[in-house]
Amino acid sequence: MNAAMPEKDSSKGTGFVTSTLAAPVSPAEAALRPLSFSDFAGQAKTIERLQVMVGAAKKRGEPLNHILLSGPPGLGKTTLAFILGNELGRNVRVTSGPVVEKAGDLAGLLTNLEEGDLLFIDEIHRIPKTVEEYLYSAMEDFRIDIMIDQGPNARSVRLSLPRFTLIGATTRSGLLTSPLRSRFTLQTRLDYYDKETLLSIVLRTCGLLKVKIDQDGALEIARRARGTPRVANNLINFVRDFAQQRASGAITQKVAAAGLELLEIDAAGLDEMDKRVLRTMAENYRGGPVGIGTIAVAVGEEPETLEEVHEPFLIQEGYLQRTPQGRILTDKGYLAVGLRPAGDIQTPLL
Ligand SMILES: Nc1ncnc2c1ncn2[C@@H]1O[C@H](COP(=O)(O)OP(=O)(O)O)[C@@H](O)[C@H]1O
Ligand SMILES: [Mg+2]
Repeated sequence: MNAAMPEKDSSKGTGFVTSTLAAPVSPAEAALRPLSFSDFAGQAKTIERLQVMVGAAKKRGEPLNHILLSGPPGLGKTTLAFILGNELGRNVRVTSGPVVEKAGDLAGLLTNLEEGDLLFIDEIHRIPKTVEEYLYSAMEDFRIDIMIDQGPNARSVRLSLPRFTLIGATTRSGLLTSPLRSRFTLQTRLDYYDKETLLSIVLRTCGLLKVKIDQDGALEIARRARGTPRVANNLINFVRDFAQQRASGAITQKVAAAGLELLEIDAAGLDEMDKRVLRTMAENYRGGPVGIGTIAVAVGEEPETLEEVHEPFLIQEGYLQRTPQGRILTDKGYLAVGLRPAGDIQTPLL
């Protein structure tokens, strides 16, 4: 079959997952996933915007407009895509940017949709540029013109598509081209969660997992979860094991603190890599400015991971700053790794 031809059954080979309404990406995570707006804690602005759009789409009996969800990993982008499906009573089809390699893959996905379906493209910033251009007409006019065959037989075929909704998710909205970005009716960014909201998420998760935990134990986990529900859920799983092996099974503040100490997650929630970044900047680069690529090599991590996972949290919490010259360690950054801020030890010239 010609590579550019849309496949009939695109569940094979394109990473196209035909999901039920609340289909999991990973079973353990799926069990914890809120299924409705009312079950989803925090992100008040985003939720209100989504509720407005969902309410209006339902009232008009029309498909939802396209939505771009951005923000660091683990804050609820995938969860929200499935909640939108649930709230609208529509299917959610899932794929991800790097999986859609060719225009034919995209055509296969789109022609298999039903009117009103949601197509969730995770990591949409990683969709190849050659494929991205086909998305423009698909999103705007619900049609796609694809070339089939090559050489003298090459011809363009216009496929009309069911009216669908594209839900894009990205950890790097800055990498999206403006033509693509501008085709989303709503672009909304998820922020790190505050302690109170994380506390409610921790209590909810423990309830679902039937984990015994008291208020102080839950607060200890919430405080150290880097503002991220996925991290909170992972910490709960570890601390639950810890409580079972090293204590009576119940999670108290002391048990939580000891378990998290074993993970080398400090009281502010910084993990090993966060601290390695801060320490490297202080000890090897006198607090910067230093480029992210240089830091990445020094700490042995991919620059993308530093930029997507570690840096946003460190910046938001004021441990480092981003300047055109590079990253700079703040006083708080020095103190977090037990060092004195550079300003204190540099004695002024006489
Ligand atoms: N607001 C929330 N309330 C409760 N749980 C949440 C919330 N946001 C995320 N989670 C949980 O965190 C995990 C990660 O969320 P996910 O949607 O996969 O994040 P992302 O797609 O942004 O990386 C999920 O298991 C989900 O249960
Ligand atoms: Mg996700």
